[in-house]
Amino acid sequence: MKERIRKYGSDILNHETYATLSTYMQHGSVSVMEHCLRVAETSLRISDWMKRHKIECHERELVRGALLHDYFLYDWHNTTLKYSLKHGFHGFTHARIALNNASRDYQLNEIEKDIILKHMFPLNLTAVPGYREAWIVTMADKYCSLMETLMMRSKHRKNRTRTQH
Ligand SMILES: [Fe+2]
Ligand SMILES: [Fe+2]
Repeated sequence: MKERIRKYGSDILNHETYATLSTYMQHGSVSVMEHCLRVAETSLRISDWMKRHKIECHERELVRGALLHDYFLYDWHNTTLKYSLKHGFHGFTHARIALNNASRDYQLNEIEKDIILKHMFPLNLTAVPGYREAWIVTMADKYCSLMETLMMRSKHRKNRTRTQH
């Protein structure tokens, strides 16, 4: 998995702006970079499973889109309600911001752009994935987000039990 991610995404992973993703938190103590790498790995797992069932997909685009799907480059925990009411809520706006940032920093094709822009489906009902690869990343993102949130909750629970004793 890791080799394929490096093979297809080396220009992204070696870019100085991509390194800043490790400074933004996604869920709990999971950084945006860790989250994106996990989504890329999970997407490859899904595509490997599909391949075994004779359903092919573009691995390069899959990896690159997954690595960049949350390339919004800000700490979304810091956005105030007032800001969100004026500019839109993170859940609805960050895919477009990520696509704008990623198009500025990397050479992207149509599939990669679609993956980034549509990954919030079905929260954003107007952005329906247009490619198989975008559907895979959308599913992988939901799965990883759920796992990260559950990990965060179980850590909280353990800490609470520890302080009670
Ligand atoms: Fe996202
Ligand atoms: Fe995500």
